Amino acid sequence: MKTVSLTIDGKKIIARAGEKMLWAALQNDIYIPNLCAIRDRPEPHASCRLCFVEIEGVKEPVTACTTEVAEGMVVNTRGEKSLALARAGFELLMASHALDCAHCPANGECELQKIARHLKASLKTKRLRLLLRELPIDDSNPILTTLRYFRDEYEEHIELGKCVLCGRCVWVCRQDIKSGVFGFAHRGFERVMTTFADEPIGADRCLDCSRCIEVCPTGALAFKDEKKT
Ligand code: FES
Repeated sequence: MKTVSLTIDGKKIIARAGEKMLWAALQNDIYIPNLCAIRDRPEPHASCRLCFVEIEGVKEPVTACTTEVAEGMVVNTRGEKSLALARAGFELLMASHALDCAHCPANGECELQKIARHLKASLKTKRLRLLLRELPIDDSNPILTTLRYFRDEYEEHIELGKCVLCGRCVWVCRQDIKSGVFGFAHRGFERVMTTFADEPIGADRCLDCSRCIEVCPTGALAFKDEKKT
């Protein structure tokens, strides 16, 4: 296997030639925020815009999930420009994410909380107006709680969108499990993760393998018995 050596945040590392920088960094315990990256996916989505890094000699920050490592590269994951871009992306994401950590099954393990800590950014956006979507609940599967988490408060059901559209569940369901229960529908702000023909996730196609729950970075997919009210 051909390898290259490079430096990330002052740490010298060896990586497989052709490896994307994100995976080389993570393998060497250097955290770079990421949501949409899927290691086995040949063409990265690069849609979350959180994984910006700076490379010596390159004018603008690049996304680590799409950039291959190269011999002698010097990478800074903490540069001012890359952090500013990542913070802006994160703020936009959080502007359509209903915060309810105390009631969320992912509280404490949520990737959004980890990213906020890393970027020293608030989970609650102050500059942007919150734009929350009202999404239906699907509680039909025996083990999955729903595509969208909801809470029961003041005797009203309030539906909160926890999905960040990273596509991890879509990928594992299609590529690993060959079931293809999940997919995306619509574009722009209306984009949602959904099922084929909007059939309930409890329908026959789901194999109850729970791989989608394992890869979900937030509390959008969770085991029923983890649902907190
Ligand atoms: S992980 Fe690189 S853009 Fe999402």
